[in-house]
Amino acid sequence: MLNNYKQLKIMLKDIKKYQIYTSISLVFYTGILYALIIQIQRFIDRLTVNNVKSITIDELITILALLIILSIATFLSQYLFNRLPIKAKNIFIGKIYKETLKKSNLFFDKHGESKIYSLISNDAVTFSQMISVNPVVIAYQSITLLLCVILIICTQWILALIILFFVSCCFIFTAFLSKKIAKYNNQVFSEKEEMTKQILDGLENHRVIEILKKNILFSDKFNGFLLNKLQKVELKQAGFNSQYMTIYMLLTVVLPFLSVVLGLYFVSINIMTIGQVLTIYTLTSQLQEPIRQIAAVRTNRDSVMKLSERLSIFLDNDHMPNKKKIDELKSLDFENVSFSYEDLTILNNVNMSIYPSSNHILIEGESGCGKSTLFNLMMNFNSVLGGHIKVNNLDIEKIDMNSYYKDVLYVEQKPVIFKDSLYNNITLYDDFSQEMINEVIDVCQLSDFYLINKDTIIDLKSISGGQAQRISIARILLRKPKLLLLDEPTSALDEKTSINLSSALNTYCNKYKIKLIVISHKKDIMSICEERLVLKNGELKYD
Ligand SMILES: Nc1ncnc2c1ncn2[C@@H]1O[C@H](COP(=O)(O)OP(=O)(O)O)[C@@H](O)[C@H]1O
Ligand SMILES: [Mg+2]
Repeated sequence: MLNNYKQLKIMLKDIKKYQIYTSISLVFYTGILYALIIQIQRFIDRLTVNNVKSITIDELITILALLIILSIATFLSQYLFNRLPIKAKNIFIGKIYKETLKKSNLFFDKHGESKIYSLISNDAVTFSQMISVNPVVIAYQSITLLLCVILIICTQWILALIILFFVSCCFIFTAFLSKKIAKYNNQVFSEKEEMTKQILDGLENHRVIEILKKNILFSDKFNGFLLNKLQKVELKQAGFNSQYMTIYMLLTVVLPFLSVVLGLYFVSINIMTIGQVLTIYTLTSQLQEPIRQIAAVRTNRDSVMKLSERLSIFLDNDHMPNKKKIDELKSLDFENVSFSYEDLTILNNVNMSIYPSSNHILIEGESGCGKSTLFNLMMNFNSVLGGHIKVNNLDIEKIDMNSYYKDVLYVEQKPVIFKDSLYNNITLYDDFSQEMINEVIDVCQLSDFYLINKDTIIDLKSISGGQAQRISIARILLRKPKLLLLDEPTSALDEKTSINLSSALNTYCNKYKIKLIVISHKKDIMSICEERLVLKNGELKYD
């Protein structure tokens, strides 16, 4: 756990210099503040002890100068302090996002997109903010506390002893409470995670809930959770927070009051001056802030650890080194391949040579029999449970996927459209000649649509399923793979478009020697496949 924390912290090493500037500026601010307090004390003592009624020009200038410097120091240090978590957050989530997109498909399957999203947008943000600010708070507030205590002792050591005894008691109490609060913070954290899951469950399935009229069921379930679990933990947390605030009140209100009463007594017996009483009053009012802040860091240290544990999934190195790059795809074979989802068998000891073969292959099978899963295995999105998938006679697990994906591409059942122009959706920022683009646009029956919409950002809501499907195909065709897997490529197309697309696709693939494997129920696309395989009960057989 500590290791995760350290590794994640390394990602924020660039923030160190900002932390140092910020700490220095804050300590500078404190220094000026204390210089001002001492200067005012001197002035008041001169007024009260020496009975001089007027302020000298020198005094006035010093105090004014200190006030101006203090204002500048406050602004500067506060600006740096507020800027720090913003910088840290942006550096950190930028890095995390980059790492995430480098991960293989197994990573996304294992954790799920919504969890990954929530980790990036919530946990990573909180983590980076805490991690950047905490050391600064500790450094700055410890120095402030130390200076404050030294100054109080120097002003009047007997009174200082009484004050420090009071402060120490409060400090011990806050330390104890911080621990409790940290524990409940973590519990609230977990319960909120559960709440997020419940909310997403309802939101993602709201249509089913609506048509089956289960709105009340789901909202009652959710409200039950809120009242019974989340609220109970939150109320306990609130209890400890209130105790904490009570101690805080003792420090902010009672302690300065106490110091004034005792101070005035000391004035009456001539061991203190009015100026000193005022100094001690001001300093004791200042004391609570460092104590509160240091305790708060103590509280969120546990949260930081918990967050680093959750964020550790981004540290998993799931791409093994020493994978073999292939120059070109020479063969793809299934050897005794078995695969199942828990107890649902998808493939059972399948042997098949997929590539090379001059023919386009059609894969048929009932819905849910595992056709899409078969493609996922060929793309190495899932790993086989038994047997081997061999690429150029090597186990696919040992192959560098980047080199494999140069020759083997896949158009998923669900079209993928990015929030970008049609042109960029097809090229994905690679260079292709307009001629090549026009060719795939023609194959995919997108010519008219392309002419009008080439540079407009695709509106994800208004684009039709069929258009999206054809854009997804065009994007892949442009890359001319040796082997192309199409999962129900024409399912959303009307008959005429489907016929035209199938025949143009056939011509295009034969021209560029692209071998197709197609999952489809549609006659048009079936007709361009020379071989037909049926997947049934885990067996893949020629028809
Ligand atoms: N990630 C998964 N986890 C568990 N079961 C899954 C997963 N993906 C698919 N399945 C199940 O595996 C079976 C085959 O799915 P799929 O390959 O999509 O079928 P097809 O494409 O033939 O319709 C289905 O019953 C589906 O519910
Ligand atoms: Mg499918």
